[in-house]
Amino acid sequence: MQHDDRPALPNPDALSAAHSARVADFIRARMSDAGGSVSFAEFMQHSLYAAGLGYYAAGSIKFGAGGDFVTAPEVSSIFGRVLARQCAEVLTEVRGGSILEYGAGSGKLASDVLKALERLDALPERYDILEVSGDLQQRQAEYLRAEIPELVSRVSWIQAPPENHAGVIIANEVLDALPVERFIRTATGVEQLRVVAEGNAFGNIQSLAPETLSQAVLAIEEELGDSLPAGYVSEISLGMPGWVSTLADSLKHGLVFLFDYGVTRREYYAHERSGGWLRCHFRHHVHDDPLILSGIQDLTAWVDFSAVAEAAVNAGLDVAGYSAQAQFLLGGGLDAEMREFASLPLTTQLALSGQIKTLTLPAEMGERFKCMALRRGELSTPSAFGLADRTHTL
Ligand SMILES: C[S@@+](CC[C@H](N)C(=O)[O-])C[C@H]1O[C@@H](n2cnc3c(N)ncnc32)[C@H](O)[C@@H]1O
Repeated sequence: MQHDDRPALPNPDALSAAHSARVADFIRARMSDAGGSVSFAEFMQHSLYAAGLGYYAAGSIKFGAGGDFVTAPEVSSIFGRVLARQCAEVLTEVRGGSILEYGAGSGKLASDVLKALERLDALPERYDILEVSGDLQQRQAEYLRAEIPELVSRVSWIQAPPENHAGVIIANEVLDALPVERFIRTATGVEQLRVVAEGNAFGNIQSLAPETLSQAVLAIEEELGDSLPAGYVSEISLGMPGWVSTLADSLKHGLVFLFDYGVTRREYYAHERSGGWLRCHFRHHVHDDPLILSGIQDLTAWVDFSAVAEAAVNAGLDVAGYSAQAQFLLGGGLDAEMREFASLPLTTQLALSGQIKTLTLPAEMGERFKCMALRRGELSTPSAFGLADRTHTL
């Protein structure tokens, strides 16, 4: 949906524009195969993951200052260092456990966590990465070989979830990258937003929602005890429960740490949030038109953490904690990390203090981002949730 008040976006360079045209051609071909339109979830799947073409599957930079957006590990190594303290607690309880990271991005978090675990004398034998993008797998390997040459032998790239994983599973900003359906509530039912070709551009059409989508929306309304108003547009990830259940099936004993921007279901489907939670990132500009810049912009949707908790419980896990990222970091050892800064040069201390502000201030990443921990088996609740645990709000 294009809004006239959208802030001006930078023009893509010629190579990116040519790549985007190829991605759009690919999507148009899929629309034609499907009889003229695709669901928004299919559109998002192709835009992000089409082999060799999609945003995550092709070679653009994406992460950090030269890319389109910045994630917590890219902001500061402090994020990984605090997370490593939480991993160390789990690895001590689950003797002989290892770490599995989903969607490792540039590889920065894996590097920071392994370096910090070495300092804590708590290195796992293995650090597995499950990354859907072949291009990113390659870039992660290059980055880790350069950054942690002495530790990289512990890292393996796996193509499917392991059986009987014991230890820790980490996924930072993976949930928001799972394709979502877009729906519109009408006075009489639920319609699906589908994407069609309009000349060289794309547009939306509404059609009767498939049974799975309308049932899912009606179930949300029933749980909230309230009907969404006519004209209300929002998102729902029908693929998320399957992703959580695959992850749960592979976990024999241990903890999952999921980080993402998200809210509870009541907040997600609040009446005033009538335009949904889909966001697009292009060269550090955030906007809400997913139908442009195909394959060269990131498409994401905020996460309904109540739905994640429900999927986890249905898959046999329990919720070990849910808190804002700021509280997770403050409760999880940020103070201990900061005490180590005292011996560093003042300029470094000032830079680190700026990074901590970005990670923790409510107007930055501190409140919008949440951590949810899921547990299988006997294990203590991670100390990071000692300060504030909002599980009861889910
Ligand atoms: C927004 S990026 C986050 C990258 C990194 N975790 C970070 O925080 O910088 C999303 C990542 O998840 C990966 N991804 C998306 N769906 C996935 C899935 N089903 N399984 C594993 N990785 C996935 C993408 O390829 C990408 O590496």
